[in-house]
Amino acid sequence: AILGTGAGPLAGRHILVTSGPTHEPIDPVRYIANRSSGRQGHAIAASLARLGARVTLVSGPVALADPPDVSTVHVETAREMLAAVEAALPADAAVFVAAVADWRMEGDAAHKIKKGPEGPPSLHLVENPDILRTVGIGPRRPALVVGFAAETRDLLENAAAKLERKGADLIVANDVSGDVMGGEANTVRLVSRDGVEEWPRMPKGAVADRLALDIARRLAETGR
Ligand code: CTP
Ligand code: CA
Repeated sequence: AILGTGAGPLAGRHILVTSGPTHEPIDPVRYIANRSSGRQGHAIAASLARLGARVTLVSGPVALADPPDVSTVHVETAREMLAAVEAALPADAAVFVAAVADWRMEGDAAHKIKKGPEGPPSLHLVENPDILRTVGIGPRRPALVVGFAAETRDLLENAAAKLERKGADLIVANDVSGDVMGGEANTVRLVSRDGVEEWPRMPKGAVADRLALDIARRLAETGR
């Protein structure tokens, strides 16, 4: 099938979605990761496609099938994710759901780190590029930029700060102090410059459907 040529409120739109964790190698056999399952991001990509959008999903390593009618690009690291995102632009909207590893190893270890009399190794980390911020303040910024904020405390303050810092239009704030990471349901608050909207706890698929409709409405409002 030719993707994104159907009917629906997002027909003719190209939307970019990031999903899943990233894996940052420590050495050839080990990596830094996080508990993201990719379920929420993949569900959002599928919901956007059902509304008629041509969707490019840039996914870190997940144990999920590629969503139907979505063009999926598989990556491992944050830097690969950024490159794939930039290669997929331009887009009408971008939704950054991935739980990108904040740090990676400085340099790369060509060989497996061995135990030895010196004791455990110190891992020297450097910060990864902020993919959302790079796109949100960049020259090829989509008309609508949506981020997620996974927080365990000070949810709304942190989400509002991320909205500004990253040049986003909307932050979907997510309390991850409970069982959200890898779980089936999600309680989110939508933080924009217009204020905060609280959604009831619902399955990740329902969050995805509602967010996709919200994105269609907000995109229509941009007039682009
Ligand atoms: N994000 C990104 N690239 C990164 C880090 C985060 O694109 N290197 C995006 C995430 O996909 C999400 C948003 O930024 O949409 C917020 O991610 P989060 O981890 O909550 O924010 P950070 O800026 O990394 O701040 P911290 O983890 O310290 O709270
Ligand atoms: Ca982070």
